[in-house]
Amino acid sequence: MSLPAFFDLSGRTVVVTGAASGLGLAIAEAMLQAGARTVMTDVDADALATEHRRLQAAHPLAESAVLDVTAPGAVDALIDDVAARHGALDCVFANAGISAGRGFMVDTGRLENLDMANWDRVLRINLDSVLVTVRAAARHMKPRGQGRIVVTSSIAGLRSEALSGYAYVASKAAVNNLVRQAAMELAPFNVLVNAIAPGPFATGINGGRLRLPESVERMRTYIPLGRVADPREIQGLALLLASPASSYMTGAIIPVDGGASAR
Ligand SMILES: NC(=O)c1ccc[n+]([C@@H]2O[C@H](COP(=O)([O-])OP(=O)(O)OC[C@H]3O[C@@H](n4cnc5c(N)ncnc54)[C@H](O)[C@@H]3O)[C@@H](O)[C@H]2O)c1
Repeated sequence: MSLPAFFDLSGRTVVVTGAASGLGLAIAEAMLQAGARTVMTDVDADALATEHRRLQAAHPLAESAVLDVTAPGAVDALIDDVAARHGALDCVFANAGISAGRGFMVDTGRLENLDMANWDRVLRINLDSVLVTVRAAARHMKPRGQGRIVVTSSIAGLRSEALSGYAYVASKAAVNNLVRQAAMELAPFNVLVNAIAPGPFATGINGGRLRLPESVERMRTYIPLGRVADPREIQGLALLLASPASSYMTGAIIPVDGGASAR
């Protein structure tokens, strides 16, 4: 296979959850640029419509569907519909996720002050919904003997993280082992399951806190590369994991973090 063909997604169908903003939006754009029919999904109907319109102007293969990943029936129905309409489903990005608020650097993030309703909400979106999305994708990919599933985890799932809330670090650590477990079950069926573990990216998460000057300043010393990332800096790894170039990769949790997890 020639080098450009390694990264060519023409004729492939991809679904991205949480695609109206931040990393999911950047991932969807990368898939479209590589030639894939890309179904952008998100719970935020207005933002989704705006971003879909914008991308579709340059990429006619962009589609969109409003989807709340906390509704298992809706996730199954969306995946079934995409696979039925396009004949196959090649890659699913389980990307939608939320912050749990700040970590133990502030009062509200300390053990004695934890809000269990917040814990439940974060686990439902960041963990339960990932399982439901992986399951829905696997149901189509396994009988076909090929497919890619990519989960957006976090470096906060690899080690402790003072800046992130308990529910967030716990959900992302759980997701990492969910990815390894699903990778082992699905390896005999040539369905490859991997995770991207981002460091700090300037997105809308947590009310856009990572875009604030105080965060940018903090990351100057906290991150070896000395800065917060632009969402487009996720695109290279997303393309690799969706494309023929990563045909021998499964069960990997890959940081894109400016060196933070190597510290
Ligand atoms: N930005 C970072 O620094 C960072 C770091 C590590 C991991 N991540 C992970 O990246 C993923 C994307 O986050 P982001 O930073 O792009 O944030 P973002 O807020 O910009 O985008 C998240 C998107 O998910 C959508 N969403 C939220 N709940 C949903 C639901 N129930 N159903 C469907 N869609 C839903 C939101 O509407 C939003 O469009 C998350 O899993 C997050 O944990 C982000």
